[in-house]
Amino acid sequence: MGATSDNDNQQALIDPFGRQIEYLRLSVTDRCDLRCFYCLPKGYKDFTEPDTWLSFDELERVVAAFTELGTRRIRLTGGEPLVRKSLPELAQRLAALHGLDDLSLSTNATRLGKHAQELQQAGISRINVSLDSLRADRFRQITGGKLDKVLNGIMAARDAGMAPIKINMVVMKGINDDEVEDMVAFCLEHDLTLRFIETMPMGDTGREASQLYIDLQTVRQRLEQHYKLLPGVMPGGGPARYVQVEGTDLRIGFITPISQHFCETCNRVRMSAEGTLYMCLGQDNRFELRPLLRKGIGNDELKDAIRAAIALKPERHEFTEKPQQLVRFMSMTGG
Ligand code: GTP
Ligand code: 5AD
Ligand code: SF4
Repeated sequence: MGATSDNDNQQALIDPFGRQIEYLRLSVTDRCDLRCFYCLPKGYKDFTEPDTWLSFDELERVVAAFTELGTRRIRLTGGEPLVRKSLPELAQRLAALHGLDDLSLSTNATRLGKHAQELQQAGISRINVSLDSLRADRFRQITGGKLDKVLNGIMAARDAGMAPIKINMVVMKGINDDEVEDMVAFCLEHDLTLRFIETMPMGDTGREASQLYIDLQTVRQRLEQHYKLLPGVMPGGGPARYVQVEGTDLRIGFITPISQHFCETCNRVRMSAEGTLYMCLGQDNRFELRPLLRKGIGNDELKDAIRAAIALKPERHEFTEKPQQLVRFMSMTGG
């Protein structure tokens, strides 16, 4: 990873609404070893790796082109990125690219017990972990998985020196909203950052779960009865608005795509495992890179293609106005 040059700045990716795009989120698989009811399509089991997925060489090439266009941050996501074979090798190759300041991972942590150290050594310095419940029976109902494996994974990441570790909790009415205070206590005890997320209507599963939506403003008011919340900040450049719990190091982020969207400061695009660039989490505007890569286009043409894709970026999502619109599941592009 290295510093920005003036030349990079001249080439920056600016979208039609004047936003600089400097964060690429790479979904390296749409598969997952958990099955959160609000995320993954039902009955999805296939774990083979099709040739339609971009190879590590192709991924490295795309990321290098993005960094030449001013991208500073890469997030590896999924599905669950650690079900992709040899992920630490990919991380190491990306971390070595000139111009990258931030290589992070979004994970469900089931496999971190085994891989945290290797990933940290490969250049992943910080991670975001999905964790919706601290009760084993409830965790199983939500995800189909084992809570103790996930907690072990989180502790392994902490022991490996990854920091910050951000816990992502999707807060859902009648499912886990009674655990907000427990989650605060857990993150305080283990020196983790906590983020609450509002449910988005992505795919059938997300749309159904949107009926469990809670405005996070009410969660914040609930916490204010127990804690004094001061304005806070966190490195990362994501959509969360942070507060700091007075007298502690704990930061709590509120991610409110529904009650108070943050699209005017959006700095990101996503790429699926198959090499489709998605311009917005909540819209279908896309650009297919794979056919161009496999046709053997040169680097300048690749950068032109990326610029053409960015020109398609919409102003904002329309989850509220058009909740039926998005058929893509969250597991295709990660968060
Ligand atoms: P960092 O700040 O780099 O740690 O990343 P981040 O805050 O974007 O975090 P993460 O990747 O863990 O995303 C957390 C959640 O925020 C996702 O699961 C989504 O629910 C939501 N989110 C992230 N990016 C977007 C976005 O562009 N649009 C919308 N609507 N939601 C987003
Ligand atoms: N709405 C909001 N967040 C979601 N996630 C998955 N599906 C949804 C949804 N429909 C979250 C996961 C994880 C992150 C990658 O995305 O819980 O924290
Ligand atoms: Fe898997 Fe994450 Fe989706 Fe859950 S939210 S099914 S852990 S990709």
